[in-house]
Amino acid sequence: MSGNELYRKALLTISGNAIVEKLSKKYGKRLAGKFIAGDTLEQALDETAALNEKGILVTLDHLGEGISHLDEAAGYREEYIRMLDGIARRGVQSHVSLKPTQMGMALDTEACYRNVRAVAAKAKESKNFVRLDMENTPYTQATIDLVLRLHQDGLTNAGTVLQAYLHRSVKDAEEMIRKRVKLRLVKGAYKETTEHAIQSKAGVIDNFKTMIRMHLDKGYYTAIASHDDAIIEWVKQYAADNRIPKDAFEFQMLYGLRMSDQERLAQEGYRIRCYVPYGTMWYPYYTRRLAEKPANLMLVLRHMFH
Ligand code: FDA
Repeated sequence: MSGNELYRKALLTISGNAIVEKLSKKYGKRLAGKFIAGDTLEQALDETAALNEKGILVTLDHLGEGISHLDEAAGYREEYIRMLDGIARRGVQSHVSLKPTQMGMALDTEACYRNVRAVAAKAKESKNFVRLDMENTPYTQATIDLVLRLHQDGLTNAGTVLQAYLHRSVKDAEEMIRKRVKLRLVKGAYKETTEHAIQSKAGVIDNFKTMIRMHLDKGYYTAIASHDDAIIEWVKQYAADNRIPKDAFEFQMLYGLRMSDQERLAQEGYRIRCYVPYGTMWYPYYTRRLAEKPANLMLVLRHMFH
């Protein structure tokens, strides 16, 4: 296992530790701001408008996941409805992304379905799109089932995410392509065992490319979400070699990461969408970003011991 892979595993393990969480919350808030557009919807909409000005599309995310009471899900559902109203009112170019466990998936799958359905139905009114982020493996099948049920109910403006690190994802991609569910393809951000996930970087990249090709070859629109230069260059070259037009796919990156590259991709005529989180529940989102890049953790440590 490489140093980077060990680092990612260790960080995803200790981020569940109560003392680490307390310290990070104390010192990390200001630094987490680099990755978060603000506490409120209006701040996030302002940021969306500014990104749109630069030719960058957006997907807005209200931070929150793993709720412990269903009442919290109702609050999140209403926030997403306000978000969709806000996007339409401001005339900005933005989809929305939500987490199934934020809508109650771990507590009551029927209630979760009703909450997500309400958001997707609201989005449909303004021809908008809802992405169900993919969380860890206890929720993989339930998330896929939820999206397929939305499609059966006529809400085809809902899609989800497949993670290249999971052994099952190529098969899932085949099914989703057949059923015309729009996907965001990612490497995968959670700590998963060998039973579920490929552990080597090279293996994940191989699977990622397979899933991307499956889409591009069939002319099936997909979102490739990665900050990895090698992947981005490979997609550009593959599209050029196979005469795949630039509007047949989009790149996606996270807010606060590689912003100048996001602008450059837009200038080059590629579709690029920025995932813009806002809200106060930033801790789990932030620790996953730290796990992905040692430099981000060094920033926090420098700040803590200064
Ligand atoms: P990775 O971290 O593997 O880095 C590869 C290389 O990219 C690095 O060696 C470096 O060269 C370059 N690089 C990366 N970050 C850089 C930086 N900040 N500056 C300079 N170079 C950098 N996951 C999940 O499980 N479920 C989900 O729903 C989502 N959703 C999602 C949406 C969007 C828009 C994105 C971008 C990502 C996700 N993810 C996700 C996260 C995803 O699974 C993955 O953990 C991260 O994107 C990290 O993998 P990368 O491919 O970006 O680069």
